[in-house]
Amino acid sequence: MSKGAPPENTCLFFLLIQNTNCTFMKQWLLSIFLLALAVACANSTIDKEDVEDSKPDGEKIFKNYCTPCHGLYGNMGAGGAFNLQESKLSVEERILVITNGRNAMTPFKTLLQPDEIKAVAKYTLKLKK
Ligand code: HEC
Repeated sequence: MSKGAPPENTCLFFLLIQNTNCTFMKQWLLSIFLLALAVACANSTIDKEDVEDSKPDGEKIFKNYCTPCHGLYGNMGAGGAFNLQESKLSVEERILVITNGRNAMTPFKTLLQPDEIKAVAKYTLKLKK
């Protein structure tokens, strides 16, 4: 092997980098990186949903059970339903009203679990203007 000639066992990868258009190589590496990132993000979103699903979603419960009378924003007042935006009750008092009902409001103790009632009671606090 004479001096100056390329060594025979030059790393293939090195040759590849040397001989490849550099912009192409960068784009290729970038797209691999972005793909990996996208996969990582997709996985973390799924994880987050799993965690949230294990807790009752107060907003969802409200939309399913309470909007017919109270409306989406708590102020519809159908059939004399109280305007929840103006309610001054504490969470504990709301839990009692939701659990046992009051006058025209139906009790929810047979429809919802205690932790669901707590979640929806907390959600009604957010309706306050
Ligand atoms: C059948 C209609 C109806 C449904 C469904 C209903 N409500 Fe009511 N709600 C009422 C009425 C009517 C009142 C006023 C009761 C009264 O006059 O004593 C009321 C009062 C309340 C109060 C008391 C507010 C205050 O400050 O005194 C809360 C809290 C409340 N509702 C929350 C809810 C939640 C949360 C849901 C869903 C789980 C729900 N309501 C579903 C009709 C309804």
